[in-house]
Amino acid sequence: MKELVFENIVCGYGDTMVLRGVSGRVAPGRVLGVLGRNGVGKTTLLRALAGFLPLAGGQVQWAGRDLRGVAPHRRLAQGIAYAPQEEVVFAELSVQENLWLHLPERQGDRYAALLAQFPRLAERMGQRAGSLSGGERKLLSFTRTLGLRADLSLMDEPTEGVQPENIERMAALLRQRCDEAGAAFIVVEQNLSFLMSVADDVLVLDHGDCVLQGAVSTLAREALEAHLVV
Ligand SMILES: Nc1ncnc2c1ncn2[C@@H]1O[C@H](COP(=O)(O)OP(=O)(O)OP(=O)(O)O)[C@@H](O)[C@H]1O
Ligand SMILES: [Mg+2]
Repeated sequence: MKELVFENIVCGYGDTMVLRGVSGRVAPGRVLGVLGRNGVGKTTLLRALAGFLPLAGGQVQWAGRDLRGVAPHRRLAQGIAYAPQEEVVFAELSVQENLWLHLPERQGDRYAALLAQFPRLAERMGQRAGSLSGGERKLLSFTRTLGLRADLSLMDEPTEGVQPENIERMAALLRQRCDEAGAAFIVVEQNLSFLMSVADDVLVLDHGDCVLQGAVSTLAREALEAHLVV
């Protein structure tokens, strides 16, 4: 079974440790939501899991194998995709080129169902991705990541700047990938409604520590909100 398990992750930049022993797991068909105020280490956690930051402590296992030292592109080949918070698209390439960049062959139907949900994106296939709005670029990044059909996708604030009706469609598509294909996701979000509509479990970070963790069904919205207000 392709489960991701991370234990006591310690990680940071230079001498500054941002994560101070964070643990969690995500099984096939499930969504782990990661919440927390600005600057608490959410992006750092995803970077570490994607292989862009070395661990100072702890370990990450994927399908029972230690991922230590495995480069990001090797992790992608093993079924772990990553949609970063910033620089989500290649601005000089067209929307279409952005979608197909990471795929060895162009199977025509790969994006058809996804683009049917986002007609405005579909209309802009020939445009430079850099001409899209911030929210549209997020949508492009989301579409590309789902199109990779990875076993596990790490998504950093996918709904930032996206229109509400498209956020609902993103939630439906994401759940569909879990429920029909058994895909797993770790989703960092500030949008609590979106997160609660897609996540099975949540992990709340505060200053590099996990301060709350559990199944969404057992956690009150107020308890989660309390960790987000400044
Ligand atoms: N490249 C870097 N070099 C040094 N410090 C960094 C770097 N990137 C992030 N940090 C610091 O690490 C801490 C955690 O940052 P991180 O981006 O993981 O937070 P976040 O929870 O994703 O925040 P946000 O909600 O704003 O996206 C912050 O104090 C930040 O300033
Ligand atoms: Mg972040």
